[in-house]
Amino acid sequence: MVGIDVHIGSQLTDLEPFEQAYRKVAELTEVLRADGHAIRRLDLGGGLGIPYTRSNVAPPLPLDYGAMIKRTLGHLGCEIEIEPGRLIVGNAGILVAAVIYLKSGEGRDFLIVDAAMNDLIRPAMYEAHHDIVPVLEPAPGTDARPFDIVGPVCETGDTFARQRELPPLGSGDLIAFRSAGAYGAVMASEYNSRPLIPEVLVTGDQFAVIRPRPTFDEMINRDTIPAWL
Ligand SMILES: Cc1ncc(COP(=O)(O)O)c(C=O)c1O
Repeated sequence: MVGIDVHIGSQLTDLEPFEQAYRKVAELTEVLRADGHAIRRLDLGGGLGIPYTRSNVAPPLPLDYGAMIKRTLGHLGCEIEIEPGRLIVGNAGILVAAVIYLKSGEGRDFLIVDAAMNDLIRPAMYEAHHDIVPVLEPAPGTDARPFDIVGPVCETGDTFARQRELPPLGSGDLIAFRSAGAYGAVMASEYNSRPLIPEVLVTGDQFAVIRPRPTFDEMINRDTIPAWL
């Protein structure tokens, strides 16, 4: 055995659990070395959290995480690998959706958008919070009112957020779900026969479609009928 690999969880906003785990990794390394194993590599997994709302207390910085790794494991002289995922891409991506229509319900109003739970499953699956903002900034002083923001899929779970304050919006207006860069596209599905939405890479004023939307036929034609049917 030449290495130890650990991954303790995701969206951790405190270094304490990492530190506890890495102290155990240090102990285990010593035990295994005493047993004759030349441990020279430690893979410490991912898990460092990101802010999902502006009001979040900022999670620990990578610099502090690195210093803690050095403090707990540096003396072992091992090659260190880390696997941060969300930290790298989470706040680098947004999901853009268009308003289909506004529906007034009993006591609450719904904003029905063309994105759905199959495109961004985190709210339905984890009750995760994503900040939702209009793509065009409203004029200063524009009144906002609360909406339940939902997709068009036939599920009560197709709810992105409840009672979010938004300025007046109408059919075709665009909204953005923030922090959708991690566990967004990769957890998307074609549920309800909805083709996967395109992914667009943006830098400055340049953009490129890096994963085009499949046509309906392309999606359906992946299915094959067995010879025996
Ligand atoms: C083994 C392993 N490494 C890294 C990651 C990435 O985690 P995160 O995106 O929280 O950094 C995961 C996610 O579950 C994982 O299972």
